[in-house]
Order: sequence, then structure tokens, then C-alpha cells
Amino acid sequence: MLRRLHHEQPESFAFTPANQAWAEAQLTKYPEGRQASAVIPLLWRAQEQEGWLTKPAIEHVADMLGMAHIRALEVATFYFMFQLQPVGSVAHFQICGTLSCMIMGAEDLIAVAKEKIAPNPHELSADGRFSWEEVECLGSCANAPMAQIGKDYYEDLTTESFAGIIDRMAAGEVPVPGPQNGRYGAEPLAGLTSLTEYESGRTQYNASAALAVEIGDTIKRIDGSEVPLSAPWVAGGRKVHVTAKKTAPAKAKAAAKPAKAAAKPAPAKAAAAPAGGTKPRTMKAPRKAGADDLKQIRGVGPKLEALLNRMGFFHFDQVAKWTGAEVAWVDENLEGFKGRVSRDGWVDQAKVLAAGGETAFSQKVKKGDVY
Ligand code: FES
Repeated sequence: MLRRLHHEQPESFAFTPANQAWAEAQLTKYPEGRQASAVIPLLWRAQEQEGWLTKPAIEHVADMLGMAHIRALEVATFYFMFQLQPVGSVAHFQICGTLSCMIMGAEDLIAVAKEKIAPNPHELSADGRFSWEEVECLGSCANAPMAQIGKDYYEDLTTESFAGIIDRMAAGEVPVPGPQNGRYGAEPLAGLTSLTEYESGRTQYNASAALAVEIGDTIKRIDGSEVPLSAPWVAGGRKVHVTAKKTAPAKAKAAAKPAKAAAKPAPAKAAAAPAGGTKPRTMKAPRKAGADDLKQIRGVGPKLEALLNRMGFFHFDQVAKWTGAEVAWVDENLEGFKGRVSRDGWVDQAKVLAAGGETAFSQKVKKGDVY
């Protein structure tokens, strides 16, 4: 495939203060005169910040590393992981189209992407929030078909689950990555056939999904709000930046977007609930029949359930009624678990459970398959 720089480019590029400090710290990993070795991590950080690699960003990185612009351009145009055109402001979907995934239905997933996002790969959706492309094997063949969305893998997809993920992301949520059919990891579909003694020691999610949940930056831009960034290889593991602002300087940020993109609406998150939200109605105690098992909601473990009970939430129908503003309040007030309500789609799950239905996750909980 011919990989060229996009025809529309911003005037300039600047790392956010935190990303600039992080980038400068990378240079200390290499001996004097070998700083060009940092070209890939720096280009990657620029892409993580903006979503795609602009010509000014490539040149900025080259200048930081004392490289000729053409050398950094060679790297950026060689590797497919670098996006050379704008991607969706919310998420870019990379659908695996190689053998295992193709056999298991990748073409159907691509049809969903064409219908829900845009007819062609690398084309922005009408609202500029999503884009997609077909990629080569991502090494998750045992969980085919799959797609990388942002930084994480969503596996064992069906057209329904893939469409649901797109819809949830459009609503400002980030579904939990990993297998989407109830599988824990890459074990046989019918369950473990060996090492079954380890089954009882399972955590809620497999290690990859748990890490994704913990870090929580699946589709988030690395904009400096992750401070403090550390440089453990620098003496004493010092923090590389302690005064980073939560947002990039307006001038640099505006300049980093092409004129066309600047006119696009802000991502859903910005249009979501009012800051701080509204406190939902709470209860002093559960109803006479007893509290619901809130752990049947995916993303709610024993600690979160206890916290919800202390806050006055005991029943599925309470959660099911939360408005956007109320979700924002609960998200903000879940000490230690901020953002879990919207990230894991509690309200949608609770609606099903409150109506007496089952979700794939609640069925697993009832069978004792969730630990
Ligand atoms: S074939 Fe799709 S991940 Fe390997």
C-alpha cells in the first residue's frame, strides 16, 4: 500500500508539557550520539497525543533527535502502526482480516464498520468521531474474530457485539476489552481441559483485560492528564514532570488539528453530563426482600458492591433509572473506582436485570464462573 502524508496538515505541532518532559526523558536512555534510537517511541507518543501523525509532528520529533526530516519520515511511512491521516476523535477500529479472523467472520465485522462508521477504511464517520481499517494478524487468532480498538483488543466478536461496542463508545462508554463471548482468555470454548485447578484462582478479568481496566486509557488520548509520568531509569526514579497541566496549551492543540477537523463536534464525553452531575435518590436500607446481588453487573466486584450499599444503592432498578447526570455524579463519587459506571455500562445491564432478564455476565456469576 502506498503510504503518503495526508493532504491537509496543521501549521505546527507541540507536545503537551507532560509529553514533552516524557519525550526528553526518553533521550536519557541512550548514549550520547544515539538519540535517534528514540524515534519510534517519540513518534508513537505524538500519535497517542493527537490520534494521528502529522507532518509537523514528524519533523518536530526529528528536530528533537537531531535527525534529518527525511529519516523520521522514512520511519513513519514504513510502519503501518503509524496513522498518517486523521482518525476518529473518539476511536479508531483496527479489524483483523487475516486467516483465522476471516474464517470466523471478519468480513461481517467489516460490513458492520462500513455501515456504522464509514463506507471506506481510513474515512472518518460523518460526525468525525470514528474511523476503521482492516489490518493484518494481531496475534490473537485463538480469539478470532477480533479488533484492536484504541490500545486494547476486543476478541471473540460477533456482528452484534461489535455493533454494540461501537454504539457504547458513541454513547461515551468504554466497554471492557478482552473476549466478548464470556470466555475468560484463550481457553477452549467448551472450558478448560487441563490445569483446571487454577480456575478457582481467577480474578474477575484475565490479565490483559484487567490491566486495560486498571489503566483505563483504551481510547483516551495521552494528553498530559496522566501525570506524574515517571522515568524509572533516571537516577532515583524521579518524576520527569511535576507541573504538567491537565490540558494541552490551547494554541498548540488548535494548531495540531487540520482546519477540517477543527470544525468537527467535540467527542461525546464533552457533551455528556454536567460537571459534577446530580446525586441520584438513595435508600437507607434495602427493601424487605433483601438487596439485589449487584455483582451480577459486570464491573461490580465485592468491594464496589459494598461501597454502593454504603452510598444507598441496593437494587438493580435504582441503577437502571440513573440519568446521564446521575451517572456522572456516581462516577465521580466512587472513591477508588471513578468512572466505572459509564465505562462498564452499568445502566444498560441494570435495566435488563431489573426487568428480570439475564446478561451473559450475570449468567456466569450465577454459575459461579466469576471469582
Ligand atoms: S488472524 Fe486475526 S488475530 Fe490472527
